[in-house]
Amino acid sequence: MRFKSQRVAYYYFVVAVLLYALQIALGLLSAAKYLGPDPLLHILPFDKTKEIHTNLLIVWVLTGFMGAAYYVVPEESRTEIYSEKLAYGQLIAWTLMGLTTVTGYVFGWTAGNKLLEQPFPMKLVIVVVMLAFLFNIGMTIRKAGRWTTTEGVLVAGLVSAALLYLPALIDFDNYTVGVFYRWWTVHLWVEGVWELIQGGLLAFLLIRLSGADREVMEKWLYVIVGLTFISGILGTAHHYYWIGVPKYWVAFGGFFSALEPLSFFGMAVYAYSALRRSGLSHPNRLALHWTIGSAVYSALGAGILGLAHTWPAVNKWTHGTLITAMHGHMAFFGAYVMIVLAMITYAMPGLIGRDEEKSSALGMWAFWLQVFGMFGMTMAFATAGIVQTYLEHIMSIGYLDTQHKLAVHFIMLIATGSLFAVGVLLFLLDFFFVMVSPRAGVRTTAREGAAPWSPAAAAEAGK
Ligand code: HEM
Ligand code: HEM
Ligand SMILES: [Fe+2]
Repeated sequence: MRFKSQRVAYYYFVVAVLLYALQIALGLLSAAKYLGPDPLLHILPFDKTKEIHTNLLIVWVLTGFMGAAYYVVPEESRTEIYSEKLAYGQLIAWTLMGLTTVTGYVFGWTAGNKLLEQPFPMKLVIVVVMLAFLFNIGMTIRKAGRWTTTEGVLVAGLVSAALLYLPALIDFDNYTVGVFYRWWTVHLWVEGVWELIQGGLLAFLLIRLSGADREVMEKWLYVIVGLTFISGILGTAHHYYWIGVPKYWVAFGGFFSALEPLSFFGMAVYAYSALRRSGLSHPNRLALHWTIGSAVYSALGAGILGLAHTWPAVNKWTHGTLITAMHGHMAFFGAYVMIVLAMITYAMPGLIGRDEEKSSALGMWAFWLQVFGMFGMTMAFATAGIVQTYLEHIMSIGYLDTQHKLAVHFIMLIATGSLFAVGVLLFLLDFFFVMVSPRAGVRTTAREGAAPWSPAAAAEAGK
C-alpha cells in the first residue's frame, strides 16, 4: 500500500466478506428446502431465500469491485483518493441499501424481476451511490492527471456496469419486452462489462505477482476486451431463443454466444503465460492461487459449461432446469468471486500495515475447500440437471415427481456445499484473525534473511 487513503478498501472488503458468509448461509438453506420438509415454509419460503441468496451475491461482489477500485486507482494513478469521506459515506449508504433490500424481501417487498428484484426506491439509492463512487474515482484520476490501461479497463467496466443498470429502472407492462431488456442488465453485466472489471483486476494482479512486462500485458488486455465485445453483445440473444421475439435471434444467439468462451480462454492463457516467466515465486502464494484460480475456473465455468448449453439445439431441452444453476455457480464463482478474493488477499498485507507479503496455511485451506466444494456442487447440479432434463422434458414426467428422483443429488449438493461453506468460514477466520496477527499460523515461502521478492529477481531466478 503506497497511499494512506487506500485503506478505505479494507472497510469495503470487511463488508464484502461478511455479506459473502450470509449469502452462503442462504444458499445452504435454499438447498435444504429442495429436500424438505421445510419448517420455515410460511416464514421464509424458497423464493425468498433464493432471492436473498442471489441478491447478496450481487451486492457483495459489487462491494468487492468498489473496494478493489479504491485500492487499484490510487496505486495506478499515483495519488490519494479524491475524497476519503465520500468513499466512507458511500459505503455506509450502500451497505444500508443492501441490508434494507434483503430484509424487505423477507416481508415480500420486491419488484419480482429475477436478479433485479430491488424495489424502485432501492434502485434509486443504487444509482446515487454508483454516481458518487464514479465521481470520486473520476476526480481521483483527474487530480493525478495520469492513468494506465489496466486502470482504464477497470474503470470502463465500472462505468458501463452503472449505465447498464438503467434499463432495470423501467417497468414494462409486456412480459416479453420486460424479459428482453432484463438481459441488457443481467447478461451484459456478467458476459460483457464485468469481464472488463475481471480483466483489469487480473492484469493488475498479474503485473504485480509475476513481474510480467506491463506493456505486453496491457496489449493483450485490449485483445481480451475486443473478444468480449465481439461475442458478448450479440451473444445476449442466447436468452432470446424462447421468449417470443423474431426467429432470427436464435441464429444470432447461437453463433455469437458460442464465441464467448474465447475471451475466458484468452484470460486463462494470459495468466498462464504471465506466470510461466516467474513461476510461483511471489511470497503471497494465497493471492497467486486465487488469481490463477479465477482465470482457470472462469474458463471452465463460464467458457466450457456456458458453451455446453448455449446451442439452441441443446438449450431447448435444458432451459429452465438445474443445468443453468450448474453453470451459474461455477461461472460466477470463477470469474467474480475468485477475482475479488484474489484482490483482497493481495491487498491485505499492505492494508493492515505489514511490510512482508505472507500467506497462511489457514488461507490455503480456505482456498482448496472452496475450490473442491464448488467443483462438487457443480457436479451435483449437473447430475440433477441432466436427470431433470431427461425425466421432465423428454419423458414428460411432472415437475414434482421428477424432484423426488433428484433427492440424492441434493444430498450431494448439501454435502459439497457444506465443504464449501467451511472454506468460506476459514477465509473469514483468516481475514479477521490470522492475517492481522503478527505470528499465528503464518508461513512464508521466502527464506530467512533472503532479499525481499522483486519481479526482476524472480525473472532472473526463472532463467
Ligand atoms: C462469468 C461469466 C458468466 C456468468 C457469471 C454467468 C452466469 C449465468 C447465470 C447466473 C445464468 C442464469 C441467469 C438467469 O436465469 O437469470 C446464466 C444463464 C446462461 N448462461 Fe451464463 N454466465 C457466464 C458466462 C456464460 C457464457 C460465456 C456462456 C456461453 C458460452 C453462457 C451461457 C449461458 C446460457 C445459454 C444461459 C441461459 C440458460 C437458460 O436459461 O436456458 N454463460 N449464466
Ligand atoms: C453452500 C453453497 C451454496 C449452495 C448450497 C447454493 C445453493 C443454491 C440453490 C439451491 C439455488 C437455487 C437453484 C434453483 O433455482 O433451483 C441457488 C441459486 C443460485 N446461486 Fe447458489 N449456492 C451456494 C453458493 C453460491 C455461490 C458461492 C454463488 C456464486 C458464486 C452462488 C450463486 C447462485 C446463483 C447465481 C443462483 C441463481 C441460479 C439460477 O438462477 O439458475 N451460489 N444456489
Ligand atoms: Fe448470457
